[in-house]
Amino acid sequence: MQQIVLSGIRSTGNLHLGNYFGAIKSFVRMQHEYNCYFFVADWHSLTTHPHPGDLHANVKSVLSEYLACGIDPEVCTLYIQSDIPEIAEMYLLMNMNAYIGELERTTTFKEKIRKQPDNVNAGLLTYPVLMATDILIHKANKVPVGKDQEQNIEMARRFGKRFNQIYGTDYFPEPEGFTYEKNLVKIPGLDGSGKMGKSEGNAINLADDAKTIHQKVMKAVTDAGPTEMNQTPPEVIENLFKLMEVASTPEAVAFYREQYAKCQIRYGDLKKQLSADIIQFTAPIRERILEIQSDDAYLAKVVSMGAEKARISASATLKDVREIIGFRKF
Ligand code: ADP
Ligand code: TRP
Repeated sequence: MQQIVLSGIRSTGNLHLGNYFGAIKSFVRMQHEYNCYFFVADWHSLTTHPHPGDLHANVKSVLSEYLACGIDPEVCTLYIQSDIPEIAEMYLLMNMNAYIGELERTTTFKEKIRKQPDNVNAGLLTYPVLMATDILIHKANKVPVGKDQEQNIEMARRFGKRFNQIYGTDYFPEPEGFTYEKNLVKIPGLDGSGKMGKSEGNAINLADDAKTIHQKVMKAVTDAGPTEMNQTPPEVIENLFKLMEVASTPEAVAFYREQYAKCQIRYGDLKKQLSADIIQFTAPIRERILEIQSDDAYLAKVVSMGAEKARISASATLKDVREIIGFRKF
């Protein structure tokens, strides 16, 4: 059976290394191996970023950053969520079989309402329903995402299975999180905390210039250094090694790990190496981002081509779903 892949990223700001290594890196490879749909989740961004002034610029930067990373709109289907009205209708239908209790128990919902107690909107509560719709509307099997999205994928699977059960069909496949690594990836932040994130202020963006990257890396949190030979590094230090593992060569990682084990590590040197390696990796991407962002005609072409392709698949699914639910033409 043909495997269908779908994933998206919210347009809430610039993309960072976490987005790249957690998601986009897989997109770029998967587009040549599967039938892929990638999109900019602009409706989702409204749950946390409701201001009209930021909306278009954020969509434009995520789109340009996708393209700069190597997502090829001729090879896969690349679109903006809000260009596909079929998603909105199917989201409405999916909401009828999603229960308040399970939505309230979702970790991401609980986290968001803690972060923005003054804006606990219904969109936040039903975020997993919209995400499930994104996935199910193309009948996707594989969803490349980072570790933090695991529960949302689980919910998508649950909503798809429930739909099948309620209507006595096997219409929706069961989507699964996907990575080429052993496990779904979690890239740490520079502040010693668990996860690099747009809203955490601990991220290195793909569009950052060399100076900014250097400054951010040099400011990364460390400790006073190991006190015993072969000691296990604490989380803040392990996080730096983890960043090195994605950005530097295995030799460099092995060298600094060994220095740590021998109590000879110099964090300043490690950070210089790490910043140089990240800059080497991001510099060409940054250049392409700037180029693509200044080419509105190209972006317009990409977006209309993507919408056209995505709507073919989305409208076919929506038509089936309406029929399965029992809507009939007079
Ligand atoms: P952010 O957390 O910065 O707001 P998103 O939630 O929009 O980013 O995430 C977009 C994609 O990037 C998702 O697939 C998510 O799992 C992945 N991602 C985000 N941050 C990380 C990270 N630190 N490590 C791994 N993957 C990540
Ligand atoms: N929730 C995802 C995130 O925060 C974005 C997203 C929306 C998504 N719809 C999706 C990811 C469908 C994968 C599949 O990054």
